[in-house]
Order: sequence, then structure tokens, then C-alpha cells
Amino acid sequence: MIAIIGGSGVYELTEMADNIEKKTVDTEYGSVEISLLSIAGKTVAFLPRHSEGHSYPPHKINFKANIMALKNIGVNQIIATNAVGSLDLDIGPGSIVIPDDFLDFTVNRDRTFYDEEVVHIDMTEPYCVRLSDALLKNSDCITGGLVTGGTMVCTEGPRFETPAEIKMFSIVGGTIVGMTSLPEAVLAREKEMCYASIAIVSNYCTSISPTKLTIDEVMEIMEVKKEELINLLYNTIKDLPDDFDCDCLHALDGASS
Ligand code: HPA
Repeated sequence: MIAIIGGSGVYELTEMADNIEKKTVDTEYGSVEISLLSIAGKTVAFLPRHSEGHSYPPHKINFKANIMALKNIGVNQIIATNAVGSLDLDIGPGSIVIPDDFLDFTVNRDRTFYDEEVVHIDMTEPYCVRLSDALLKNSDCITGGLVTGGTMVCTEGPRFETPAEIKMFSIVGGTIVGMTSLPEAVLAREKEMCYASIAIVSNYCTSISPTKLTIDEVMEIMEVKKEELINLLYNTIKDLPDDFDCDCLHALDGASS
């Protein structure tokens, strides 16, 4: 089954779904509300990352419960949306980036399912290449800039960054900065699920932007991009084959001795 993890500004996708059934999935990490949607004839799980009404800030999201709940209901492919700031003047607000790498600057998150066993999963391809390619192939509906690849910097938040942090993230090779891609992408890999991200640029980062950053500008862009995003998700979901194999589904092979 395919799942969509909706980030800031993506709380309901009722416009693209024929049927909706809500269910609570209990896991050992907590309970998670998931909607089952019918999209292009397929059942798709939808999980608003911050929970409905955007109540959990990024550093309080129960990432382990979210990923475990999706795994438990049979999800093996996750398309996530992430609102991000841009470190690059050529990638302006309204652009969409499909990242192919990340830098993890989070500091206080429950980041692995393997606290008791020695498991080292490979991260040579941090985001699923097959799923990212499917998004790019179906991206004709996107206007205002589409960037293939790029490095997602994930910060702890909830504050925005300082000018010195932004300078450092640029020097070390970051393209965009958000607060929610990690540990989500890693936990999905640990559970052998394909995971790709649609990063929606809502603003230039602090100090690259000439003005002070506000949450309102983040939400405004999300609203503007909503329709394009829905089309991208719909077209990709329709196009994805039911039967497939992928290295992500075998991520634990060779990960422990
Ligand atoms: N920084 C961190 N997270 C974000 C930003 C940003 O500039 N914009 C949207 N999410």
C-alpha cells in the first residue's frame, strides 16, 4: 500500500479521494490516526504528520509511532511532503525539490528502531530512487521550478535558523532546510519501506531572505501550491505499479551480523 505523510499545510486531501475511512492504529510507540483514501482506484493511507489541526511541533512528532502504524497496516511506499526554506537564490519560494540526500542536524529525537540490537542500515541512497523518479516523471503539473535532487538539511527547531547556521549549512552542501524529514526517512528505511519526499520551498532561509521569516508566509505558499501538489500525488499514485521490487524492501539484508 502507498502512504502519504502530509506536512505543514497538507492536512486533508479529500479533494483527490473518492472514499475516506478513518482508523486508529495502535502501536507499541503510541496510537496514530490514519485516513484510508481511495485514489485512482487504489487504497492510500494518509497521515498528517503534525496530526490533525497541526498540534504537534516538529520536535514533538511521534515519528516512530507514525512509521510503525503505517508498517502495521501494510504500507511499503511512503510519499512525504515537507515545507522547507531554500539556501539557494536560484530556488525560490514556490519551487519543488525532490531531495536525494540529507544532513541530519536534529539533536533530540528518538531516531532508530534499533536501540537494543546492533543494526546499521545502508544510507548510500537516503531517499528511494525509484519513488523519487516516479515523482519526477509525473511532475508536468508543477509550475514555478522543479529541482531534481538536492540535500535536505533537517534542524531540530522549532525556531528558525540563525544567519551563522544558514551560512554553515550552505558551506557544507545543503540545498534546503526543514524540520521534519528526519528521523522519518531513516525509520522508514529501517522498516524496509520506500520513502521519497516532495519538498515545497515556502521561503528563502534566514539572512538569504531580505525580510524576517514568519509562519504565515510558509502557510501561504502551501495554500498556493496545494492544487499542483494534489495533481502530482494523484498522477504518481496512478502510475506506480502494484507489483514492484526495490532495494528499500531489503534494507535489513546485510545490516546486522
Ligand atoms: N527553516 C526551517 N524549516 C522550515 C523553513 C526554514 O526556513 N521553512 C519552512 N520550514
